Amino acid sequence: MRTCDLFDLTRLPECRHFSSIGNSHRSPLTNILTACAIGGFFVSAQALGAADSSSPGQSGECPWVDSGASDAERAAQVLAEMTLDEKLSLVHGGLEADLTGLTGYSGVISAIPRLCIPRLTMSDGPAGVRISNTTQLPAPVSLAATWNSEMAYAYGKVIGSEAVTKGVDVQLGPEIDIVRDPRAGRAFETYSEDPVLAGVIGAATVRGIQDQGVQSQVKHWSVYNQETFRGTPLDDVQVDDRTVRELYAAPFERVVKEAQPSSLMCAYSYINGQAACENSYLNSILKGDWAFPGYVTSDWVLATHSTVASANNGMDMEMPYGVFYGLPLKAAVLAGTVSEQTLDDMVQRILQQEFRFGLFNNKQKGSYQAFASTDEHVMVAADVAAEGAVLLKNEGRLLPLTSAVGKIAVIGLDAADASESRGFGSAMVAGTGTVTPLQGIQDRAGSVAVTYTDGEDVNKATQVAQDADVAIVYVARGSAEGLDQSSLDLSSSQNDLIAAVAQHNPNTLVVLNTGSAVTMPWLEQVHGVLEMWYPGQQSGTALASLLFGDANPSGKLPITFPKRLEDLPAAAKDRFPGAGGKVNYSEGLDIGYRWYDETGIAPLFPFGFGLSCTRFEIGELSLDRSELGTDGSIQVGTTVTNTGDRAGSEVVQLYLAYPATSGEPVKVLQAFTKVSLEPGESKKIALQIDAAQIACWSSEQKRWELVPGRYAVKVGNSSDNLVARAFFSVPEGGPVDR
Ligand code: BGC
Repeated sequence: MRTCDLFDLTRLPECRHFSSIGNSHRSPLTNILTACAIGGFFVSAQALGAADSSSPGQSGECPWVDSGASDAERAAQVLAEMTLDEKLSLVHGGLEADLTGLTGYSGVISAIPRLCIPRLTMSDGPAGVRISNTTQLPAPVSLAATWNSEMAYAYGKVIGSEAVTKGVDVQLGPEIDIVRDPRAGRAFETYSEDPVLAGVIGAATVRGIQDQGVQSQVKHWSVYNQETFRGTPLDDVQVDDRTVRELYAAPFERVVKEAQPSSLMCAYSYINGQAACENSYLNSILKGDWAFPGYVTSDWVLATHSTVASANNGMDMEMPYGVFYGLPLKAAVLAGTVSEQTLDDMVQRILQQEFRFGLFNNKQKGSYQAFASTDEHVMVAADVAAEGAVLLKNEGRLLPLTSAVGKIAVIGLDAADASESRGFGSAMVAGTGTVTPLQGIQDRAGSVAVTYTDGEDVNKATQVAQDADVAIVYVARGSAEGLDQSSLDLSSSQNDLIAAVAQHNPNTLVVLNTGSAVTMPWLEQVHGVLEMWYPGQQSGTALASLLFGDANPSGKLPITFPKRLEDLPAAAKDRFPGAGGKVNYSEGLDIGYRWYDETGIAPLFPFGFGLSCTRFEIGELSLDRSELGTDGSIQVGTTVTNTGDRAGSEVVQLYLAYPATSGEPVKVLQAFTKVSLEPGESKKIALQIDAAQIACWSSEQKRWELVPGRYAVKVGNSSDNLVARAFFSVPEGGPVDR
């Protein structure tokens, strides 16, 4: 067991195994600031004296509790009764918050019994509820790799339902930040390099959570793409307006408009010199253009930097305590630098969501100690892990293993007790018991013999591999919030182990347990590669189902895997992690597959790629019209056929190539759907192209515009394999409503 520092303690119920990702990034300064933040609240809470539990309110005195009025009206009624101190106590965290997540919720807004305002509890996070006795779901990147919004809904439903059992009112997730660079430390806990994929999966997850009666807090708004310099002005993103609108804000736009999350969490990053939590984008884009009716919460320690600017620019709640929104906000309101009207708007937004989610009426049913995981939830964890696994190589039809395989060698520390089933940080869920890869294989192997060695002794590993029909080398690379990866490589000992094993048994399958892209110097030597991401507590069950053919791989990469670090769009230091106090986003829209298209650099595996153990054919495209107006849409139809001999699912991906005058990347994902097919079966599918969705942001006109010209629609099963195409034109462009 390693010694944990403060960051470990606040994040890692068990610090064992953290060594694989290096030391915590939190500096002593951060720790001091954390302590000051907590200390600061002590002063403000006492001085404000807002939540006076000595005068409990009766619901008879609170007509809004059982009222049939709208949420907005009920919120306004409460607001009209509130004193200044009571209003202030609602806009920042209270003392009950426990940053460790071990003995209490990650954030709490204190109750105001006089007005029947209940306590508001918050808990992480995107991979399950970060409290003991909940299900450890596969990492969000695995969910994104399913390209299946029904799976995302089911995943959200597990989180929402366990949140209810645990007494959590606000679930801090999903995270939908764009993966600008695969080195980003939190790449595993978000979804994709593409805003459409991130937005679709995010919206379905939010619906899954909120349909259980729990608020979803979508994070981290916005342009938050790295951990280096976190929370400091050195993470000052220099980015143009169009890139923000079309890329970094786009998944938030879809989620806000399609799934109506209760709240958003603003980020640690700075955008063009202004911290995200006091950035003018909050009022201009989020609350202005999108008319977001919910509230904005700061990310926890170190995301709030001011009182007046934050309040006036649209941050509604400071978490986890009240350093800036305690006494300083009271002083600002009294001095008139923040108007009472602004404070009222903050409070109104929070109360309105509390009414919307029935907080006033429903007596808290859950409890922090309750056992929340169920068999059904654990099955969802297994299903997502299996469906999110991406088969990257399958030479000689290595998978599924046939009856000719009598002996399997399982090699690697990570296949057994040290199994890396999740990433670290606020997204880390302990789970209720992990089925390790080795266990899963042993449980499913039947008469097939399974031998295991940890791979520490390479000679022994090669011997074991040689004696088996198939060698499975299980390797992992850890990821953590707070720490970007310094390279894209697995450790040299892992690479050497794989190469050595492959030399002694070509039927080698490498199982990757990583949160993001890695390089594969041994790729030519092995017959199989399966990316499992961090598959959660059902790692072994999911892996065994794929090996033995109970499930057919259907995951597709949500991020591009490059051949080498130098090929990345942000390879230059001024782009990642930044230099001279700025992080240069001069690659603009060209991140991920867009960059590889633009530069002609061949990736190792392209975005959207993933093999199946059957084959699919995508037919010709039919468009229901050939011209698009500024408020129109086009239906694109095609047929998908399973031409192989096994049941399976295919992801049909539609990309759009814009007229050259648009300044758009070579092609951009617009829509996708996942289809399940029996052998020989065909299905017709329809995908939609909307004028509003394909419009480009004009930085000059500050509006969305449909660019006139000829557009190519390209459909296929990866960004690199577009087999069907058709064209339409936009005769007259112009502004669109969006
Ligand atoms: C993370 C958030 C998390 C919060 C509460 C922050 O450090 O960035 O994602 O929700 O802590 O634990």
